[in-house]
Amino acid sequence: MIYSKHVFICTNQRPEGAAKPSCGETHGMALVTEFKKLIKEKGLSIEIRAQKTGCLDVCDFGPALVVYPDGVFYQNVQLADVAEIVNEHLVGNKVVQRLVLDKK
Ligand code: FES
Repeated sequence: MIYSKHVFICTNQRPEGAAKPSCGETHGMALVTEFKKLIKEKGLSIEIRAQKTGCLDVCDFGPALVVYPDGVFYQNVQLADVAEIVNEHLVGNKVVQRLVLDKK
């Protein structure tokens, strides 16, 4: 299966008291669930996939995710942002600029 869009959501969980924050500590797994739910509801599961992944190495900006093949990273993603990313980016091919992580 080749997806037109593939979303990798960080669910990495560091132990309590770790020096760096981790997306799994906040709500990484809830984001995965929400993406999967909306993609299924819209009947897009054949073309679009969302799944959990390990650390994306942008821990200070989490909860973080990346959309391929575009290679767009999103930062500080809240549950309320998921519908916008699905509708605008995954369906509409329009990057949600306000959430884009710019590592430069
Ligand atoms: S823990 Fe999520 S990017 Fe590192």
